[in-house]
Amino acid sequence: MPNNPESNHNSSSLRSPNEFKLNDDSTLALASVESILQNFNSNLSKQLAQRSGPLKEVVSYIFSRTGKGLRPALTFLCAGLLGLDLQNPRVHLLAQIAELIHTASLVHDDLLDNASNRRGNETIHLKWNAKVAIISGDFLFAQASLKLGEVENNEVVKIFAGVLSDLCIGEVKQANNRFDLKSAELETYIKKSYDKTASLFEAACKAPAMLNQESQEKIQALSEFGKNLGIAFQITDDLLDYTASSQDLGKPSMGDLTNGIFNAPVIYVLQDSNYASAFGELAKGRFKSKEDLGSVKEILNQAQAFDKTQQLAKNYLDKAYENLQVFPDSPFKKDLQAMVAYIIERKL
Ligand code: FPP
Ligand code: MG
Repeated sequence: MPNNPESNHNSSSLRSPNEFKLNDDSTLALASVESILQNFNSNLSKQLAQRSGPLKEVVSYIFSRTGKGLRPALTFLCAGLLGLDLQNPRVHLLAQIAELIHTASLVHDDLLDNASNRRGNETIHLKWNAKVAIISGDFLFAQASLKLGEVENNEVVKIFAGVLSDLCIGEVKQANNRFDLKSAELETYIKKSYDKTASLFEAACKAPAMLNQESQEKIQALSEFGKNLGIAFQITDDLLDYTASSQDLGKPSMGDLTNGIFNAPVIYVLQDSNYASAFGELAKGRFKSKEDLGSVKEILNQAQAFDKTQQLAKNYLDKAYENLQVFPDSPFKKDLQAMVAYIIERKL
């Protein structure tokens, strides 16, 4: 389970901020796995195109619009950290499984969220229809399952099966709590963030350690690292929903709020008796007008909800940084540390 969210609340910065470089598309440049990652997506996409029969066009569309590739990057970096051969086909399978599960869940998520755009492009249920979105998401989950079988490691199967379960649970928890001010609590939010996001980060980091039959200490360290990084990632994602432009987000900003999803910034406002009732009044109108959205942003600013949310993410990143202490210095460790620093600074 996730750690106590505010146990490290006074810490103001990452222990040792690492410099990080960005690629032209603002994704993180990771020197130690750069050559592996360069071909990763096109290889996976080609493989899927061969296997997807009548879904070829949809699957190619999905994979031509890639994300940041953080999950496969984490698998390769953690494998490298443990001294595994990065050409090992089973390590590639793990990275592909992580990316496939992530991508499939987003196709379904966009349908559930009624989202019109993902990364600036039309979503599958709109470009095609809901049935296509369901079946193509299912197809990608099935491809992940086939690859899981190919890994031939029962512990790894259990990890990723657990992730699939967590994803569904996280999504349902979120749907059930829409527009519910009473359920907007930090502990609930962190648990949901674990289910939705950090569980897969954890698996992406831990699976290479399981595969390599590492010591409990190292498995535990990578497990905690993935969890803390994943929770911080979701917190900053939720923050960007308010602070980034719609253009940068590739979807309308403040979408979580208008969908009644009350994340960390709202939780902090509700904790502040000076602002909670004003927010409650605005929530009655379900944030339908531009004016109400402007007022919410103003209240969030005044209540320092964005700063508090940023600090919350930093607390988790501090822990993630610490989780890497048990590993000796290496280019992989340096890149994992850079990823920790990147998550708090990222603009999209
Ligand atoms: C994005 O969240 C969504 C997720 C992280 C997980 C979604 C999971 C499911 C739809 C369940 C998966 C189904 C199976 C069968 C395992 P978000 O909506 O906050 O982010 P966004 O703004 O990028 O859409
Ligand atoms: Mg969504």
